[in-house]
Amino acid sequence: MRAYSSHKDIIKLVNKVDSVGLVPTMGSLHEGHLSLIRKALMENEKVIVSIYVNPMQFDNSSDLKKYPRNIKNDLQKLESFSDIFVYTPNDNDIYKKKEKKKKYNFSQFTKIMEGAIRPGHFDGVATVVEKLLRMFNPCNAYFGEKDFQQLILIKTLVKELKLKVNIIGCKTIREDDGLAMSSRNKLLSIKERKIARNIIRLLKKAKQLYKNSTLKETKSEIFKDAKLIKNLNLEYFEILDLSMISDFLEEEEEIRAFIACKVGKIRLIDNIII
Ligand code: PAJ
Repeated sequence: MRAYSSHKDIIKLVNKVDSVGLVPTMGSLHEGHLSLIRKALMENEKVIVSIYVNPMQFDNSSDLKKYPRNIKNDLQKLESFSDIFVYTPNDNDIYKKKEKKKKYNFSQFTKIMEGAIRPGHFDGVATVVEKLLRMFNPCNAYFGEKDFQQLILIKTLVKELKLKVNIIGCKTIREDDGLAMSSRNKLLSIKERKIARNIIRLLKKAKQLYKNSTLKETKSEIFKDAKLIKNLNLEYFEILDLSMISDFLEEEEEIRAFIACKVGKIRLIDNIII
């Protein structure tokens, strides 16, 4: 592992390499990120891991400020991996002065849920990911299903802009109690961490209910249940038949449940196939 803050240094090193994988992250690395990196290492000769807290995708400045950062720790976690180059840019290496985020108008699927609640978020994500893809021109790029709408956004971006890269979706990695790993979990107090277990419980409950109930009944039961949980505020709970975006799905007619909630002040999202 070696870390570089200038993309030009990495480009020189991967110039003659047969296959390059890219794993974009915002750091505070956990097993979820590491699973993407391991998969990328299995499928590519060299792997570039970017660590950059992208200001353009934060819709509020306090969220950006409190986003956990620990680059020293991150580099330690990556130390034992050979064949990876870590890209740790500062804002100037990514954006020109006063540069604004690009406006994309891709898929309807990115206008709902996260797209509706966090205006401009996906434009910010797409702006930085497009830059990283054009910068390094990787054969494969890896994204987690935990951020399922983001994964579909990137697949759409690549298709629309005709970029030559395979976008690989990777399974969600969870803690022992089922909470999806997330850099934001570090911000939870011990009490909040216990409350956060309800997220996977609600998703699994929906999966059970949906076997014998209608969509409306299932959602209404989940909303009722969530209301009783102290310190958990549901932002949305959706069950969607994703056959409309079947271009991108391995199994057609996949039905997924999606949840976003605040536990205390910390916003968490998750989804499962139901
Ligand atoms: P970040 O939240 O750091 O996540 C980096 C990648 O790790 C994303 O593709 C995300 O889906 C994946 N990931 C996060 N938690 C995971 C888990 N528990 N299991 C599997 N994969 C997981 O997502 C971003 O950063 C940014 O939006 C980024 C794409 C880097 C653009 O700035």
